Formats: sequence, structure tokens, C-alpha cells
Amino acid sequence: MAYNLLKGKKGIIFGALNEQSIAWKVAQRAVEEGAEIILSNAPIALRMGELNKLAEECKAPVIAADVTSNDDIVNLFTKSQEHFGGGVDFILHSIGMSVNVRKSITYTENNYDFTHKGLDISALSLHRILQTAMKMDAINEWGSVLALTYIAAQRVFPDYNDMADNKAYLESIARSFGYYYGVKKHVRINTVSQSPTRTTAGSGVKGFDGFINYAEKMSPLGNANADQCADYCVTLFSDLTKMVTIQNLFHDGGFSFTGVTNAVIEQMEK
Ligand SMILES: NC(=O)c1ccc[n+]([C@@H]2O[C@H](COP(=O)([O-])OP(=O)(O)OC[C@H]3O[C@@H](n4cnc5c(N)ncnc54)[C@H](O)[C@@H]3O)[C@@H](O)[C@H]2O)c1
Repeated sequence: MAYNLLKGKKGIIFGALNEQSIAWKVAQRAVEEGAEIILSNAPIALRMGELNKLAEECKAPVIAADVTSNDDIVNLFTKSQEHFGGGVDFILHSIGMSVNVRKSITYTENNYDFTHKGLDISALSLHRILQTAMKMDAINEWGSVLALTYIAAQRVFPDYNDMADNKAYLESIARSFGYYYGVKKHVRINTVSQSPTRTTAGSGVKGFDGFINYAEKMSPLGNANADQCADYCVTLFSDLTKMVTIQNLFHDGGFSFTGVTNAVIEQMEK
């Protein structure tokens, strides 16, 4: 059901790769709520071709940007200002990648070149996007920026590997930049800490099936899925949440504050 929550708003959605992607669902929901959007992803992701389907459905231009490249981000905001005739009202950062995870290198054996690469893509990219946007005045007054994160930033999940460190850095950037952008232009910046979700990035984590089933049993409401995450993101882009900023917001069916559940105890007693 649509409520016209984003009527007249314009936004950039980073990170829709395929139909499973959280960003894919957010793009669909944002448009359903009346927004106009631009889709962006790394050139290599665009070559896979799936994004064209979403672009057609959302009547959205696709602008390639590798988030580790300043030039690409400048080009993206230049084109978005041309396309919209001004700034944007919201941005979704839905980007993550760890070379150490991809290559099954355990945390204690991490290769630092790979660590740098993953940090640059998964965390520093938020700073780069915000710094460029601020310099180019590319986000409108009371704009809303969201980045997706995971609770491994606060608690130990061994197989989440260096992505845990990347997420801790990402959340800190959201707070620090959120201060400066809030004071300067009332732009609000938050992170949404989502339940484990079956996507390309999510399924790359070792032992993902056990991981997602455990979280399901440990959450009073069960795991939040990607569609529900999109619903939540839409509210955070809307004017109904104007005074929410520099927060890490758990969207996880209650997992983050649950000590134990009967479902987990029953499992342990088997
Ligand atoms: N799936 C989960 O279990 C889960 C849980 C909590 C948080 N998250 C976070 O949600 C976000 C989206 O991930 P997802 O699960 O939808 O998976 P996904 O694989 O669909 O999305 C990750 C995206 O990052 C993009 N990307 C990678 N390198 C890039 C680069 N250099 N430049 C630009 N884009 C680049 C990929 O192309 C892809 O679109 C990530 O930040 C992820 O860590 C996922």
C-alpha cells in the first residue's frame, strides 16, 4: 500500500544489483511512494545488465559510479543535478564488499591490501559521497541519507570477518558527518542495522544458512526481510522522521536486545 510519503522527492539509490538486493526493494518502494530516483552501481555491476529491468520499471536513469573513485562520484552528482535541475532529498548507501570474505581468508589472517579495498568500498565511500555532495551542494535542506549496516559492528560474529570493522567505521562516519551536515543544512544521516537477508552480499558470509536461522529463532518477531527494510527506509526518507539523525537504527525483529528465546533454548536441549 502506498501513502505518497515521498511525493515530490528526488533521490539516489546506490547498490541495486539484482532482485534480491535490499536497494532494489528500496528503489521500488520509493517510486511507489511518489519519488523520482537515479540508480547507481559500479560499472562492473551494470555490465551484468539486470539493473536495466529496474531502471525501466522505475523510469530511472542509471549512472555508473565506482564508489572508490572521486571522479565517478563528482560525475554522478553533476549528472544528478542536471537531471533533477537541483539537489536530491535522499540517498541510500547500500554497498558492501570484503575481498577477505570473498577469498575465504579468516579474520586473524586478513590480507591488508584486501582490508583496505573492502574498507574503501564499504565504509569510506559514505564519507566520499557526503564530502562530494557537501562541496557541490547536492543534497537539499532537510535531506535524508541512509546507509545499511549490520550488528557485527557492535557484537562479535566471527565469520562476518573484516566487514564487522568496516561496519563500525561506516556507523561512525554517519554520526560524525551527520553532525556537520546537520548543522550546515539540516541534512540527517542514519544507519539502518538490518537482519541477515538472502542477497548476493549476505550469502557470501560463511555459514550463512545457520546464521540466518539462528537470527530467526533469536528475534521475537523473526528476521526482517528486504521488503520490510524498504518500508522502513521509506519512512526515514519521509518528512515524518525529520528530527531523527546520527542514529544507528536496528531493523531486526528485536534481535539486538534479546538475551535468549525459548526457541533457542529448545534447540539447545535437543
Ligand atoms: N544481506 C544481509 O544479510 C545484510 C544485512 C545487514 C546489512 N546488509 C548491508 O546491506 C547493503 C546491501 O547489501 P545486499 O545484502 O543488498 O547485497 P548486494 O550484493 O545486492 O548489494 C551490494 C552492492 O554493493 C555494490 N558494490 C560493490 N562494490 C562497489 C563499488 N566499488 N562501487 C559501487 N558499488 C559497489 C554491488 O554492486 C552491490 O550492488 C550492504 O551494505 C550490506 O552490508 C546486508
